[in-house]
Amino acid sequence: MTTTIPVGGEGFAAYEVVVGRGLLKEAGARVAALKPTRAFIVSDETVAAIHGETVRGALEGAGLTTGVVTVPAGEASKSFEQLEAVLDRLLAEGLDRKSLVVALGGGVVGDLAGLAAALFMRGVDFVQVPTTLLAQVDSSVGGKTAIDTPRGKNLIGAFHQPRLVLADIEALATLPVRQVRSGWAEVLKHGLICDAAFFDWLGGEGKAGAEGDPDALERAVIRSVEIKSQIVGEDEKEAGRRALLNLGHTFGHALEAELGFGDALTHGEAVALGCAMAFRFSARQGLCAATDADKAEAGIRAASLPTRLADVDQVFSADALIGRMAGDKKAEGGRLTLILARAIGEVFTDKNVDAEAVRAFLIEEGAAA
Ligand code: NAD
Ligand code: GLY
Repeated sequence: MTTTIPVGGEGFAAYEVVVGRGLLKEAGARVAALKPTRAFIVSDETVAAIHGETVRGALEGAGLTTGVVTVPAGEASKSFEQLEAVLDRLLAEGLDRKSLVVALGGGVVGDLAGLAAALFMRGVDFVQVPTTLLAQVDSSVGGKTAIDTPRGKNLIGAFHQPRLVLADIEALATLPVRQVRSGWAEVLKHGLICDAAFFDWLGGEGKAGAEGDPDALERAVIRSVEIKSQIVGEDEKEAGRRALLNLGHTFGHALEAELGFGDALTHGEAVALGCAMAFRFSARQGLCAATDADKAEAGIRAASLPTRLADVDQVFSADALIGRMAGDKKAEGGRLTLILARAIGEVFTDKNVDAEAVRAFLIEEGAAA
């Protein structure tokens, strides 16, 4: 059984996110229905070794001419160098304007391959086949594509919506549990943004999903994609409501940057900690009840995700964190922009947050003055 969630809005063509099991094996017919001249797979070395042949076989089985280009696994592949290598390979293979790129992998591959598709011949179709939980619930939906530069993450990119997203729950079976939990942080984030009942379920009956239970994962992916689809459909280019998806990201990004984007915190772990901090800061400012901040923390903890600075083996400087937050591309006019909470399931963008209040909060949280 599969579930199909439409994504579409003003200014971009609607497409479907299909969630189910065995979709990698079925990818051929679904991609062939888009009638490309060829379908070329972009993946990373780890994912290609596990799932590459299945998808390649499925595409060939549907009569499509295909091939695979791989990049090393990991964030470092979101670079000009790898983008150039992928584009050069597509050219060398003789792909044309009606060819299609299949992004097979996590968010790194999706962002890189999506940007390559946006640039190749001024834009060709692409299909997202996300193989991490994070990519299934977040990065494969909504058309943000990007690479990093030494000056910052995701600074070079394009909005380029996929033609189709195939989220195969079975593909998650090979994902290390730390990566599953990382993706679970983005799932929890969706509940915290706009669905309190979903958040309750994630921290209770559904929490086995954070350990890889496929039934819970499937339900979590479906609801997450519904939420993301609705938000992106209303605001593709992040003029307003889409910014709510950044809940936990300004705190989280500052922590990741201070840690040099190393192994100490995955992106999802940083988002989980950032969400807990955003709720505690909101409670401190009298915007939401302290009980909501406690409940948010308990739901995140239920997935063995970090909620406190003390969970990270590093002393952070409050000023350094504020500097990172002010330098974040989500900040406008030197003011701190944060997604804050009125309650679980009810968040809003505050573009005028007092940096001194954030500094005092960070010190209370254990950062050095
Ligand atoms: P990732 O793509 O690096 O994948 C994590 C690791 O899991 C990699 O080593 C990968 O090889 C491995 N892996 C992937 N699928 C696997 C599988 N099924 N079995 C075994 N191993 C597997 O990381 P990610 O967390 O998926 O994505 C993070 C990236 O997503 C970041 O670059 C972030 O900026 C981006 N992102 C983009 C958006 C967006 O809207 N475009 C949203 C959120 C995050
Ligand atoms: N991950 C945030 C967004 O897609 O807007």
